Amino acid sequence: MTRRLLVTGGAGFIGSAFVHHVLAHTDDSVTVLDSFTYAGHRGSLEDLPAERCAVVVGDVADPEVVERLVADVDAVVHFAAESHNDNSLADPSPFLRTNLMGTFNLLEAVRRHGTRFHHISTDEVYGDLALDDPERFTETTPYNPSSPYSATKAGSDLLVRAWVRSFGVQATLSNCSNNYGPRQHVEKFIPRQITNLLDGIRPRLYGTGENVRDWIHAEDHSSAVLRILDAGEIGRTYLIGADGEKSNREVVEMILGLMGRPADDYDHVNDRAGHDLRYAIDAAPLREELGWRPRYRDFEAGLAATIDWYRENERWWRPQKAATEAKYQLVGQ
Ligand code: NAD
Ligand code: DAU
Repeated sequence: MTRRLLVTGGAGFIGSAFVHHVLAHTDDSVTVLDSFTYAGHRGSLEDLPAERCAVVVGDVADPEVVERLVADVDAVVHFAAESHNDNSLADPSPFLRTNLMGTFNLLEAVRRHGTRFHHISTDEVYGDLALDDPERFTETTPYNPSSPYSATKAGSDLLVRAWVRSFGVQATLSNCSNNYGPRQHVEKFIPRQITNLLDGIRPRLYGTGENVRDWIHAEDHSSAVLRILDAGEIGRTYLIGADGEKSNREVVEMILGLMGRPADDYDHVNDRAGHDLRYAIDAAPLREELGWRPRYRDFEAGLAATIDWYRENERWWRPQKAATEAKYQLVGQ
């Protein structure tokens, strides 16, 4: 049976990867709801079949547009968010509006219409781990967010859980680790370093560079979300990760190697306030109960393909680069 999906934030990095994935692997049709903030990109939705993919420019914090679109679909997959920790430290207010009020509006609309809802969230809601902690995050790890961004994502998750319990909303949640791949904004760690090197600038490591992130390709995140939408248990939270722990220093050294530069050709810059030390995901329930498997198991190969994408798609990232670097320069990063 084919479905009509509403994908919020579908012009962003992961939302657009999901839209491409759904159109390639199902017969479903998609309506994207995206307000095209600085992070939304028309070019990320180019060359998609118009008869199966419509784009509506609108704000998830606007209850009228949300009501109108939710009334017409079978399921909502909610990616739209302010997503960058550094921005949330500079100005938290859009994070509260989009991440909390936007999620609230969507929950009220799916509650009215009895629509299936999948909420996209982050492993950052669990806070951070010590470098030598043998435990990884699981769906029962207590919430302990550190930044305004992760606090608003934690709040949005709790709203979803409350709407499931109090109003019987048919929702699932997923909390994923750090994504990489094509079409990621140049403010984020990996694209920033790749495009810096393409511009002849040395990569910038916050603090010591020992912080660890658990990397997963955005295509694998997308296949996991589709699997949960198809077969996930209502009310459940699924953690999505692909056993990709690497320190930031290791990632920078790998990028330098792949781009033909010496491994120590980077600079240390000011650390991020409240910088989480380590994230690590235990995705066993997703693998064992839903049979999901990541395709991109070789991080270095995925990174090499990502570097090629940025080399070949300067037209996509160039317009954002100077303004992004100017913002970082203001805070010594
Ligand atoms: P992104 O910043 O690349 O994209 C966000 C998209 O949402 C953009 O297209 C933007 O225009 C849109 N948007 C923002 N505010 C909106 C509003 N008020 N109304 C409608 N659209 C709006 O973000 P991303 O990295 O693709 O993240 C997508 C989701 O995945 C977020 O919910 C994020 O918390 C979550 N997530 C991201 C990662 C990661 O590594 N990037 C990991 C786990 C979870
Ligand atoms: O864990 C999931 C989260 O991953 C998502 O919820 C967020 O939306 C997403 O942005 C990402 O958050 P991070 O803060 O981990 O990602 P970011 O790309 O900003 O930074 C990754 C790591 O690299 C982090 O430890 C900070 C560091 N860093 C970042 C930049 C931009 C640097 O060392 N240098 C940099 O220039």
